[in-house]
Amino acid sequence: MGFPTKRPRRLRKTDAMRTLVRETVLSPKDFILPLFVTFGKGVRKPIKSMPGHAQLSVDNVVREAKEIKTLGIPAVILFGIPKRKDATGSSANDPKGPVQEAIKALKDKTPELIVITDVCMCEYTSHGHCGIIKNKDVDNDATLELLSAEALSHAEAGADIVAPSDMMDGRVGAIRKTLDESGFGDMPIMSYAAKYSSAFYGPFRDAAESVPQFGDRRSYQMDPANTDEAMREVALDIEEGADIVMVKPALPYLDVIRRIKKRFGYPTAAYSVSGEFSMIKAAAEKGWLDHDMAMLESLVCIKRAGADMILTYFAKEAARVLRGGK
Ligand code: PBG
Repeated sequence: MGFPTKRPRRLRKTDAMRTLVRETVLSPKDFILPLFVTFGKGVRKPIKSMPGHAQLSVDNVVREAKEIKTLGIPAVILFGIPKRKDATGSSANDPKGPVQEAIKALKDKTPELIVITDVCMCEYTSHGHCGIIKNKDVDNDATLELLSAEALSHAEAGADIVAPSDMMDGRVGAIRKTLDESGFGDMPIMSYAAKYSSAFYGPFRDAAESVPQFGDRRSYQMDPANTDEAMREVALDIEEGADIVMVKPALPYLDVIRRIKKRFGYPTAAYSVSGEFSMIKAAAEKGWLDHDMAMLESLVCIKRAGADMILTYFAKEAARVLRGGK
């Protein structure tokens, strides 16, 4: 039986009616806000390509965290910009590094805020790649030790979750083993399981000062054309002990999010990356689209596709709009 008995428009008549039948509801609780931590005091160095975002020193990270809490956002993910970089990224596990210091300060001042840390070498290496270089390529197995040491230093500082983003083979297992052997058997790993080699990371690499000095990341990050490969990556990470799996970027990869959520039924995160954020900002600045509507539409679509949580640079702005203020 079809039209005129069936009229789908009946349920779209008013805002109240649309709210009643809405299938996916976005909430500030869905968001994880990325923050860039740098050394020094009183530092707030704006990131040109990411309006509203800045490299922050630890004191300003704490200030930011208090605001985040009042907005109902449950978690942040920290990225570090160290004082010095070298070929092996040796400052990544410095117990006095910006990330480690920020974790301690946050756990002291805003203990209920979940502190996730990005575990990767690219912010700490002089060449900007995600591991140690041998024969012009990243050496997988040698890098695992460095990543494990970095993750352990985050755990020791008090982080709640570590999130390896390097895409080395076996990193989740290596980190899991190190954490378990050091008394951190309870610490969850959020793995960047299906991380694609993407042009949409452009603004982030400015923000984290991690542009590769030669070549690109295609020998370790995934080919955007593949989804079966994403299934294999996720299966391996779960086998190695991942507790939460992530897809990154988000918007151009909604099919991947959907497939992973359906197949594995694991807590699934989506990282709406810097390029997704900056595109909307730039277009809105030009008056080419409505900022808040484009922002909320993107986020609800990522959730609809199957994401249980969204890492987004819009976290604060979206939370404000959702709470009905500005
Ligand atoms: C580190 C890392 C990157 C992002 C998150 N972790 C950059 C990269 O792989 O080049 C990108 C985040 C974004 O673009 O917002 N490896």
